[in-house]
Amino acid sequence: MIHLFKKGINPSSSTLLLLHGTGGDEKDLLPLAHVIDKDAAILSVRGNILENGMPRFFKRLAEGVFDEESLKTETENLYHFIKKSAEQYGFDSTNVIALGYSNGANIAASLLYHYPNVLNGAILHHPMVPLRNIELPDLTNTPIFIGAGINDPICPAEESKELKNTLEAAGAEVTIEWGNQGHSLTQLEVTAAANWYRRQFY
Ligand code: MLT
Repeated sequence: MIHLFKKGINPSSSTLLLLHGTGGDEKDLLPLAHVIDKDAAILSVRGNILENGMPRFFKRLAEGVFDEESLKTETENLYHFIKKSAEQYGFDSTNVIALGYSNGANIAASLLYHYPNVLNGAILHHPMVPLRNIELPDLTNTPIFIGAGINDPICPAEESKELKNTLEAAGAEVTIEWGNQGHSLTQLEVTAAANWYRRQFY
């Protein structure tokens, strides 16, 4: 996968897995990562799928309607890519925290839905429910931050609540921060995520 990697300040630093939104690339979330944890290692990945020239992490059939086969295949690809990258770059594969926006948050949520041991935590900005009718792994001790919009036209508030409930039912500790700026990622939400991260991981 096209990606960039930056070493952490020391070998025991957390690694932030950056996952951009539709039409973005591996550079998009670098400023955000700096706000969240400037000492962390960074593995930032570009989505494998192109939709009208725009990189994404999996195919969709329409706005908000996911191609589940593509989602499952790309989730598995990303899982193996993370494990392979940990060996290649020498970061701790048990201390990876996802930082995703929109489509990137959706594939991060899908990683959580499929694998118990890939993410140590996650910041999901404006995610949706990635899949339904699937049994989640045990997510005990996995803290998750969701940034959501009460008026998000792409990710309705009901969907954010369903995602929170499903993750909590699997044992995760979920914090949700509500905004009123639609699908936008605001400074207020980033600050809330940074404060949450400090409480969880410092
Ligand atoms: C998705 O397709 O993952 C969501 O609709 C968000 C987006 O527009 O990328």
